[in-house]
This record gives sequence, C-alpha cells and structure tokens, in this order.
Amino acid sequence: MARSLTIIGLGYVGLPLAREACRSGLDVRGLDVSNAVVDGLNRGVSHVDDLDDGDVAEMLRLGFTATTDTSCLEAVDAVVICVPTPLSDDGTPDLSAVESAAKIIAEHLRPGTLVVLESTTYPGTTGEFVRPILEEGTGLVAGEDFHLAYSPERIDPGNERYGLRNTPKVVGGLTARCTDAAAEFYSELVDEVVPTVGLREAELAKLLENTYRHVNIALMNEMAVFCHELGIDLWASIEAAKTKPFGFHAFYPGPGVGGHCIPIDPNYLSWVVRSLGYRFRFVELAGGLRADACLCRQANPRCA
Ligand SMILES: NC(=O)c1ccc[n+]([C@@H]2O[C@H](COP(=O)([O-])OP(=O)(O)OC[C@H]3O[C@@H](n4cnc5c(N)ncnc54)[C@H](O)[C@@H]3O)[C@@H](O)[C@H]2O)c1
Repeated sequence: MARSLTIIGLGYVGLPLAREACRSGLDVRGLDVSNAVVDGLNRGVSHVDDLDDGDVAEMLRLGFTATTDTSCLEAVDAVVICVPTPLSDDGTPDLSAVESAAKIIAEHLRPGTLVVLESTTYPGTTGEFVRPILEEGTGLVAGEDFHLAYSPERIDPGNERYGLRNTPKVVGGLTARCTDAAAEFYSELVDEVVPTVGLREAELAKLLENTYRHVNIALMNEMAVFCHELGIDLWASIEAAKTKPFGFHAFYPGPGVGGHCIPIDPNYLSWVVRSLGYRFRFVELAGGLRADACLCRQANPRCA
C-alpha cells in the first residue's frame, strides 16, 4: 500500500489530488518547475480556484511540502504525473512536460514504485512514450519491477457537487497487477475506482468524454445558426427535449467551445487517427464550428 506520494505538476489537477492524498494520511510531496507556485504553496497561498488558502494550510499541517527539488522523488511508493499537455504551434501534441517528468522519475525510480500518468493525452502515450523513458537507464522493467498505469483526471473546476472524491476514477494498468496496484492506491482517495482492461482504454476514456462534449457543443452551435434563420427558439427546444428521462443529454450553444480541455484534447485523438492514414472528421468539423458560427447571439442574449 502506498504511504508516500510525489505529485509532479501542482496545478488544477495535481493540487486537488495532493489535498485528497493528505487527507487520506499519505506523506505527500509536490514537485513543480515553477518557483512562484512552490513558494506560494509553502506560504499557504493557493493559485487554484478549487482550493482556498485554508485548504493549503490544512495540507501543510498534514505534512505537505512543495518543492522544485527532484530529490523528493527518492524512496516514494507512488508518483503521479499531472503536468500540462498542450498543443504545439502546428496543432500536434506537445508532450515535452510529460517527457521531462518521466526522465526525472527515471533518475530516482526504484523497484516496487507505482507510476501513474494523469495528464490528458492520446492512447499509447503511457505504454509507448513514458514506459521506454522509465525503463531506459534504470534497467527496470515496467509491469515486473515497477507498476505503470494511466488514470484520467475528470476534475471539473468550479463544480461544487462533484469533486475528486465522489467522481468515479478510471484506472488502467500496463498489466493486470499494475491495474490492481493503481486501483488500490486510488481507492484510498476516491469513493469508486473503475478499472479498465488496459492503459489505452483508460487513455481513450478521457478523450471520449471530452470529444463527446466537443462534438455536441458544436452540434448545438450549428443548430443555433439555422434556428435563428427559421425563427425557432433553440433554447426552448432544448429545455423541452431535456425533459426526456433517457437518451438525451442537454448541451447548449455558446461563443465557442471553452474551458481548459475541450478545445485541445480532441486534437490529440484526431492526431493519432491521422497516423492511420485518415481523418477524424467529427472532431475536425466540430473544431470549425465555434464562436464565429454562432450567429444567434445577436438575437438571443443567453447566447452571448
Ligand atoms: N484543468 C482541468 O480542468 C483538467 C481536467 C482534466 C485533465 N486535465 C489535464 O491535466 C493535465 C494538467 O492540467 P492542469 O490544468 O493541472 O495544468 P496547470 O497548468 O494548472 O498545472 C500544471 C503544473 O505543472 C507544472 N509543470 C509544467 N511542466 C512541469 C514539469 N516538467 N515538471 C514539473 N511541473 C511542471 C506547471 O508549473 C503547473 O504548475 C493536462 O494534461 C490537462 O489537460 C486538466
């Protein structure tokens, strides 16, 4: 059972995880490249909306320390990677932060450690990108000498009803033993763990969730345009449709697909689909149906 944990990347994903781990009695260290983030946290100041300074004070009381010093990866039972996965200038996945985190872990990796990637990414990243970095140089073999898993973060910043603990946590390992080790670790932090059959299924689950939202928001934006032309109040239609107790989930038109993840994550999936020699047409089409397409906001203030 993991008793000590290092979280790499102390942002919207890493910090709530650190709080829950502190509350569960783990010895938690946080590693970040930003001096401002580290100094702020050690002074008890939160830079993340979902945690206030009181939460950080509680974490510090429970033994949490933030640092830029990679020696915090020595002799830990579990490491979770929560670093950013943005797009490069050419729209392709930028895994440079994941790469650098994996290289630093490899410098300190010891047998028996559980390594989990939580950053959102394309299927294959944990097994084909992170795994070789961890194995190279250490001589350790993933699935035999250490556990390797992927667990998507489903945090919804600002959501007061669902947080880390009461949102089911999807977990997929390189091997069944890796899945078990990761599930055991997360079961201390969340109410429900949902194991998948493998790494790539867990990686895809996250992209499936966000692509579903991306495509459905784009669908509403397109409907908003022709409903405006037809003189139909789409909002009233959505309110009516959502009274159906099954088979319909309400999405709303708006000034584009916003937030931290939805405009970016589906591109990770379309990038991997392109490697097969064809295109993920739904995602590419949805990507084109954003603010400029949503003409209805001229007529309907709710769509501003
Ligand atoms: N924010 C969300 O709502 C959300 C939800 C689900 C998944 N995610 C995914 O989780 C991942 C992290 O997102 P976030 O919102 O927490 O990002 P964030 O920008 O809030 O925080 C990332 C932190 O990682 C640090 N960092 C960057 N490179 C680093 C490195 N090499 N080593 C150590 N620390 C490093 C940054 O300084 C920053 O403090 C991304 O893959 C994102 O797509 C985000």
